[in-house]
Amino acid sequence: MSNGKVTVLDVQKAKEEGRKLVMCTAYDYPFGLLADQAGMDIVLVGDSLGMVVMGLEGTVPVTMEHMIHHIKAVVRGCKNPMVIGDMPFMSYNVSIQQAIYNSGRLVKEGGCEAIKLEGGVDFAPTVQAIVKAGILVQGHIGLTPQTASALGGFKTQGRDAIAAKKIVDDAKALEDAGVFSIIIESVPAPLGKLIAETVKVPVIGIGAGPDVDGQVLVTHDLVGLFDKFIPKFVKQYVQIRPVILEALTRYKQEVQSVAFPAPEHSFKMPDKALEDLKKMMKG
Ligand code: KIV
Repeated sequence: MSNGKVTVLDVQKAKEEGRKLVMCTAYDYPFGLLADQAGMDIVLVGDSLGMVVMGLEGTVPVTMEHMIHHIKAVVRGCKNPMVIGDMPFMSYNVSIQQAIYNSGRLVKEGGCEAIKLEGGVDFAPTVQAIVKAGILVQGHIGLTPQTASALGGFKTQGRDAIAAKKIVDDAKALEDAGVFSIIIESVPAPLGKLIAETVKVPVIGIGAGPDVDGQVLVTHDLVGLFDKFIPKFVKQYVQIRPVILEALTRYKQEVQSVAFPAPEHSFKMPDKALEDLKKMMKG
């Protein structure tokens, strides 16, 4: 990718040149910095933060204020990746005016370069209006976690021809509405491939097989920091949770046994200063 900030032009060029885009999530400064150092093209401040950071059952309760707070922190760590802020549930569903206003808040107050929202054909007019207002929009179709209950739960989408055709139509509608990229979640690999071949904008998959234009994963899943449930499409590259747990347990033991802090973690005071202090304290 380019040296410096990844732009919408770089993202489009990657598809044209057949270079896979790499995207992960981040919710705070340390992970923003790590994603930057790892050379991510795109970092998503996803509303998945509700589950993996805030301990909620789903993404529905996540608010605009939560999103702005976390986007600001990630942006400070991400010098090069394009940062995308996720529009939380009901921040764009009420009216087009509300959608433009809240997209503007993520960009203006959060400092991200683009926004993402869930929905296909039904949200094409909303996407078109946000794009017209000058904001880059990434679509999200297939399994849409904010409305997963309406889809019958966290299930693979587009398994039969009729359901698959609906997702193809969603992708085309989003492209026509002006998205710069589309995330497609939890669909059969051949459908992911077909959609990537059908639209000109980059299609980034999460559980959509290898033949799309790039991949995104929730970082807390891929590093094994969140293991309440592990979707089939997740690959855990490391299991960091047991490493952190062991460190915290050892810390507790060493504080209790006074093995910590050791001399190398403590500050010295000249003997004379200590004697003088004691004298002063005696009056
Ligand atoms: O919120 C999120 O992290 C997402 C990804 C799963 C794409 O939407």
